[in-house]
Amino acid sequence: MATQPTREDRLAPAEIGRHYDEVSPIGDELRDGQLHMWYWYGDEDDAPLEEAVQRISHKVTGTLGLRPGERVLDAGCGPGETAVRLARDLGVHVTGITLSAFEVAKATSRAEAAGVADRAHFRYGDYTAIPYPDGSFDAILALESLLNGDDLDKALREFHRVLRPGGRVALSDFSLESAREPDRIETFKTGLRLGALPTVPEWLERVRAAGFQVEEYTQCGPRVFGMKTKYVTTAMKRRAEIAERFGDSAVREYADGYRSFFVPRKDQIGYIIVAARKPAR
Ligand SMILES: C[S@@+](CC[C@H](N)C(=O)[O-])C[C@H]1O[C@@H](n2cnc3c(N)ncnc32)[C@H](O)[C@@H]1O
Repeated sequence: MATQPTREDRLAPAEIGRHYDEVSPIGDELRDGQLHMWYWYGDEDDAPLEEAVQRISHKVTGTLGLRPGERVLDAGCGPGETAVRLARDLGVHVTGITLSAFEVAKATSRAEAAGVADRAHFRYGDYTAIPYPDGSFDAILALESLLNGDDLDKALREFHRVLRPGGRVALSDFSLESAREPDRIETFKTGLRLGALPTVPEWLERVRAAGFQVEEYTQCGPRVFGMKTKYVTTAMKRRAEIAERFGDSAVREYADGYRSFFVPRKDQIGYIIVAARKPAR
């Protein structure tokens, strides 16, 4: 039986990479190459899972206002679908970094298949020590990738360093909405390998402390984490198909690994989208 990771195990980059090497293959298949949350308008919204997941990509990347030819860093890029779409649909140059070797390989083949390998590149890299010089990017995307590490502030300072003056950052992630029943929150954080879970004011404070001007923010948790039951129902519709591809025990292990995710009450976990800018001077 798998042992619960300790706090140290949970935060070490190698452990984070191993975690995504394990969960990304099924997550990639289930959520169309996007390892992030969904967005449903309510219980009566019958959008399929792929569409609900795509809505988050659109909402978050839409705040960047990308123009053709701009240089974008996708920090914590997952299996690459979001970056590939940005390169294909908007004509930007995207560099994706991740701690998962599986994701680098998957994202690279996805870019080749989409015919954008000249504009979308992926490599192993840690966003707390970004392997690019100061001012290398016009925009940075961090779509649900910032909370795994134990040093959110260091990551934000690195974003500030590698952005050009006037450059933009868009991030989305979980926020703590209610600390009642702290055991539920701790279970959620441990299961997802989260190093932190800031409240909305804490998120904004930390983004500002890194030197950014916050220009827009949204808290849409009721349409994201609040729709967790709908996610389970929708995902279950594809269970047999996914099990045929990966094997029944792999799917069971995947589902067991996410059991702790569903432990908090719907109103305990929010979802924040923040758009900010590095001042021009
Ligand atoms: C929940 S997934 C989101 C992936 C992708 N942004 C998406 O929306 O599909 C989190 C991602 O963050 C990456 N990640 C976590 N910590 C990282 C770090 N310190 N440096 C680079 N990537 C990191 C993981 O490897 C994984 O790709």
